[in-house]
Amino acid sequence: MNLVLLSVLLIALQQAQGSSSQPWLLKPNVLVVEKEMQSTVEVPLICGESFEGAEISWRNEGEELGQRGNRITVTVEEMMAGNYTCHDSAGALLGHQLVLVQVQGGQRQRKILKGSDNADYIKCSSKNYGGIFRCSWQWSNERKGSVVLISATRSSDGRDITCTLDSDEAGITCTDQFQCAYSEEQDHIELEVYVRSLYRLEKYFSSFSISEIVKPDSVHIAKLQGSTFELQYPETWSVPASFFPLRFHIKVVPHKKDCDYEAQSRTQVIFTQNQTFSVNNRREFLLCVRAQDPLCNSAWSEWSKYE
Ligand SMILES: *[C@@H]1O[C@H](CO)[C@@H](O)[C@H](O)[C@H]1NC(C)=O
Ligand SMILES: *[C@@H]1O[C@H](CO)[C@@H](O)[C@H](O)[C@H]1NC(C)=O
Repeated sequence: MNLVLLSVLLIALQQAQGSSSQPWLLKPNVLVVEKEMQSTVEVPLICGESFEGAEISWRNEGEELGQRGNRITVTVEEMMAGNYTCHDSAGALLGHQLVLVQVQGGQRQRKILKGSDNADYIKCSSKNYGGIFRCSWQWSNERKGSVVLISATRSSDGRDITCTLDSDEAGITCTDQFQCAYSEEQDHIELEVYVRSLYRLEKYFSSFSISEIVKPDSVHIAKLQGSTFELQYPETWSVPASFFPLRFHIKVVPHKKDCDYEAQSRTQVIFTQNQTFSVNNRREFLLCVRAQDPLCNSAWSEWSKYE
């Protein structure tokens, strides 16, 4: 029954999608109305083709609407839409439609996620070139938000990338199964995140390639003997290291300082394997090491410390 309902809606909506003032289907049972904040829009709802002529009543969030019949029109004012359900004469649920409002030009007045401009809302990173990446965002404190839809595709072929949402709905882990670590990336990943707070819908967008968001995991520092250490490639980094070399930034700073301290001895070298490093320092010291992909000048890993 729901399938019939959905296909009818899809046909009705595909015909309507040309104009921005017509509602469009974001996903099954979720209709989007794009409008100016202050304007009022009439939204036609259909319970289902097979219910034509039947006695049908409608509710919004459980509250009875005056209108009856298979097709009704509801009025959406400001941000107030609803979750409309249709029922048979005995009151049984026949279908539902969540109607959400997207403010036109709403990019300038975002409210559901925290951030100052579009680039800041969604942060993505990848530990290597294998095709798995993570993105995260922060919910604003004032509103209770939830994710409605995530879509990630490769721009050239529209190939889908699978993403799973964290349980707190503040991040995703995605896998591009066809990402080839050994070849140059030809195109970008386009990420769309639709979130809602009550009936307000906002769309966030990010576009990047894996090489733009790569950030190696921390280097592992293993003590060999005395003040000699082995600096080891992060376990999660792409292999072989000869093909994916890392640049190590090594700093020896005075004891009780931290790794941001501007030390005199700084070393930046490209290692294609684990490297032994000796500190010629009789006093107490702090050894700081971090890594970067030199080929794309990636973000640096977090510092690893040994004291
Ligand atoms: C809308 O109503 C339907 C039917 O009662 C329910 O299954 C669905 O979870 C509701 N959706 C929201 C977002 O409240
Ligand atoms: C570095 O050392 C670790 C631990 O011994 C080892 O598992 C890893 O394969 C080494 N990596 C390289 C690039 O030599």
